[in-house]
Amino acid sequence: MKFFLDTADIAEIEEAESWGVLSGVTTNPTLYSRIGGKLANFHEHVKSICSIVGGPVSAEVVSLERDGMIREGEELAALAPNVAVKVPVTPEGLAAIKALSAKGVSINTTLCFTVPQALLAARAGTRYVSPFVGRFDDISEDGIEHLGRTVAALANYDFGHPVEVIAASIRSANHVTQAALLGADIATVPFAVLKNLVKHPLTDRGLDAFLADWEKVKNS
Ligand code: E4P
Repeated sequence: MKFFLDTADIAEIEEAESWGVLSGVTTNPTLYSRIGGKLANFHEHVKSICSIVGGPVSAEVVSLERDGMIREGEELAALAPNVAVKVPVTPEGLAAIKALSAKGVSINTTLCFTVPQALLAARAGTRYVSPFVGRFDDISEDGIEHLGRTVAALANYDFGHPVEVIAASIRSANHVTQAALLGADIATVPFAVLKNLVKHPLTDRGLDAFLADWEKVKNS
């Protein structure tokens, strides 16, 4: 499974990139506003992220109607060769996915909650489908079970172009583990979750024991 970072924070992206584990980035307006982002600087910010990360950088359109999404998508795609345009799965969004993908623009279909939504996005030409996990958990449904259905359903078909599943709205290491066991191609994770993925108390305990033994060796 590949790891994308779900953030707009350049320092987090640089840190994860330095670990050698980063295959891409996803951003959305909430994440951009969280770092104090201004609309006027959004395109420059996407370019900066694209210069750090070799893999796909998803940037979301804000328009909800097809012509606006297509115009914004073209503008975003022109920023860097590794931009993937994030489009919501709506009837207008499907039309934008069709038009943009026909022009060679890579699309990440977002806000995906059902198998039919994922199948429709794939048929329309999307490169990535992002089923949301945590937001199902938020409403007391099992987000991982929904993710599993989408992964299994998409695997039944050849869409004539590659379609990868991005497990999105990931909130915990357990989400990542379950997504990997289900065969999701990618997990997009907040930096706090990524840091937790590296940790285990037995690793810490092992290091403490190692250091204590090393002290004894040094003083012998
Ligand atoms: C990524 O593409 C999604 O926008 C993101 O994972 C959503 O996460 P959230 O449900 O925590 O907002």
